[in-house]
Parts: sequence; structure tokens; C-alpha cells
Amino acid sequence: ERTYDIAVIAGDGIGKEVMPEGVRVLEAAARRHGFTLRQKWHDFAHCDYYARHGRMMPENWKEEIGRPDAIFFGAVGWPAIVPDHVSLWGSLLQFRREYDQYVNLRPVRLMEGVPCPLAGRKPGDIDFWVVRENTEGEYSAIGGRMFEGTDRELVMQETVMTRKGVDRILKFAFDLARTRPRRLVTSATKSNGIAITMPYWDERVEAMAASYPEVSWNKFHIDILTANFVLKPHIFDVVVGSNLFGDILSDLGPACAGTIGIAPSGNINPEREHPSLFEPVHGSAPDIAGQNVANPIGQIWSAAMMLDHLGEKGAAAEIVAAIEAVLKEPSLRTRDLGGSADTASCGKAIAALLS
Ligand code: NAD
Ligand code: IPM
Ligand code: MN
Repeated sequence: ERTYDIAVIAGDGIGKEVMPEGVRVLEAAARRHGFTLRQKWHDFAHCDYYARHGRMMPENWKEEIGRPDAIFFGAVGWPAIVPDHVSLWGSLLQFRREYDQYVNLRPVRLMEGVPCPLAGRKPGDIDFWVVRENTEGEYSAIGGRMFEGTDRELVMQETVMTRKGVDRILKFAFDLARTRPRRLVTSATKSNGIAITMPYWDERVEAMAASYPEVSWNKFHIDILTANFVLKPHIFDVVVGSNLFGDILSDLGPACAGTIGIAPSGNINPEREHPSLFEPVHGSAPDIAGQNVANPIGQIWSAAMMLDHLGEKGAAAEIVAAIEAVLKEPSLRTRDLGGSADTASCGKAIAALLS
């Protein structure tokens, strides 16, 4: 019997509301496909924990988590209690780095029935992957503040790109493109203005492309790239970007495809030396938390990505199909999609299709 150990961390805000729906669907898929999920829920990496302990996670969090097959994560952040950089560097960003989850893989797909904010777009017109570098780049803790409180006050922060770090994310993007019918990689750059790291990024893209003659590629500066997400979303297949550019594109893409509420992600260590972490793209949404109106599909689609990663391809595909079926039904859509279904009824409807 196939058994998987899953570390479950719900986090803050709507993380606590969408996680039960993700787990509900996982359990339905497990029953149906004859595997077992051993869940270990962790009561840390949320801001109430910080309020009690002065830190986001126990010192021995790695021991607590152990060696699960994957981590299923909700969302972290409650800026009224803990500054965002403290809560995120104390949890999610630590996982990404400590577990060397250097790929952040985020699909962008316009699903049938989902109202699209872009005029004239239909399903099939928007169907691409954002491949985001997830461990270095603009997200660095290197820098500092000087002359604090004076008129010479100064802050600076370094962007770090290593050859290993850039090449491995580019390789992942080109490998992914090779499995797609269109075989196209688009690189997000800004080498006209960011004159050291971004020309380096471009250079490595060109070098990587040379070893993938069967994959075509192009590049756009990030400013016009964001415009093209809106104006010409059909031209994209695999879009690869640095940590910050990938972050921005992976909210913009799903918004162009209807809502960030359904967007999933995999924070992946492709070598499988460490657990990978699956979570929705969205955050803890304090503005709607506690109302049972959050869209649970980002969490549920992340569950599908997790099962796919664990090798349960059939179960993963069925969850995505169930999501598609439920999205076609207006009465099952949550508020972000113009509907009035609540979080739990949307999750239950998806789980029901798997029973
Ligand atoms: P957010 O994604 O939490 O919310 C942005 C907007 O989208 C809000 O109006 C929210 O109501 C809406 N929204 C988000 N998810 C939704 C869902 N599932 N259904 C319906 N509507 C949804 O981004 P934010 O407001 O910038 O950040 C809020 C907090 O979350 C901050 O503390 C931030 O640091 C944190 N955050 C965490 C993660 C993460 O854990 N991966 C990601 C992004 C932001
Ligand atoms: C995401 C989030 C995080 C990021 C934040 C919460 C640090 O926006 O996962 O996209 O910027 O990576
Ligand atoms: Mn983000």
C-alpha cells in the first residue's frame, strides 16, 4: 500500500480556511486511488505562534518536520501583529532556502466558465507556466541601513545571482518547454536598466538555449512583458524569471486568467534531496479572512500538484478535472469569481466529484 507522509501547515488568515478544503479533497482522492496520506499538522509558522513565542517557528523546526514526502502549506502573514518581512523570512522563505526549493512552478490557465477580465479571451488562449527562481536574486538579506535618522540616511540591498542558481532554473524551464507542444521559453529581463545582474541573466539564457536547439526562446524586458501578459497572453508557453520578476508575473498571470484565488504553486527541489512544498499563490488575505468566502481552489489545485509530484498522476489529473467541472457551475463559484458559494461548499463540491 502506497503511503505518503505530509507535513501540513495552515498558517494565517484564509490559510486556515482553505487548508481544510485542500485536505478534504486529498482524502477523497486517496480513498478513491487506494493510497494513504499520513498527515502531521504543525502548529507553528503563523503569527499567533509569533505572538506567544517571539519567533515564527521553534528552534528545532527541522526536527519537528522530519523527512516528510511533501509539505502542504496554506499562507502566512498577519501584518497587524507581525511585520510581513519578519513573518515570511521566519517561515516560508526559510523553507524555500533550507530545503533548496529553487523552482517555484506556477501554472496560469484560463478555465472554462471563468469570467476573464481580458476582452475576447477564451480557454486555450491563456495556458502557460511561470517558472520562478526561488532561492536567490532580489530576495536577499545582504545589505543594510546607515546614518539612521539623519539626512544622510541610506539603505541598500544586494541582488545575488550565482551561475549555479541561474543555470539550474533556466535548465528547469527549458526542460519543461521541451515537454510542451509549442516548446517556447520566454525570459523576463531588465538588462537595459539593471546593468550587472540582468545582462548576466541574459547571457546565461543564451548559453542554456544553445543546448536546447529544439526549444525556441525569446526575451522581454519586464515592463513590456507585464503589458504583454494583458495584451497578448496567447503568445506565452513557459515564462522564466528571477525571484522578484517571477513573483510579480505569477500574480499578474492568474489575475489575467480570472482570479488569483485558484492559482497553485509548487516550491520544488527537483533533485528530491529535500521535501518540496505546495501552496496557493495567494496570501492570507486579511481583508476577507474569517468570512468563509475565500476561494479554496488555489489550495486544492496545489494538492493536485503535490500528488503529481508524489507520482499519483491519475489522482492529480482527476482533481484538476473536478476543479474544471466545478468552475463551470456558476452556483459553485466563490465571490472572487462573481459567485456566492462559500469556501466549504466549493471544496465539498470538488471532493464529491472524487467520491
Ligand atoms: P493576498 O494574496 O493575501 O490578497 C490579495 C487580494 O486577493 C485580497 O483582496 C484578497 O482578499 C484576495 N484574495 C487572495 N486570495 C484569495 C482567495 N483564495 N479567494 C478570494 N480572494 C482572495 O495578498 P496581500 O494582501 O498582499 O497579502 C496579505 C498577507 O499575506 C501579507 O501578510 C502577505 O505578506 C502575505 N502573503 C503570503 C503569501 C504566502 O504565504 N505564500 C503570499 C502572498 C502574500
Ligand atoms: C509568494 C509570496 C511571497 C513571495 C511573499 C509572501 C514573501 O508573495 O509566494 O508569491 O514574495 O515569494
Ligand atoms: Mn507573490
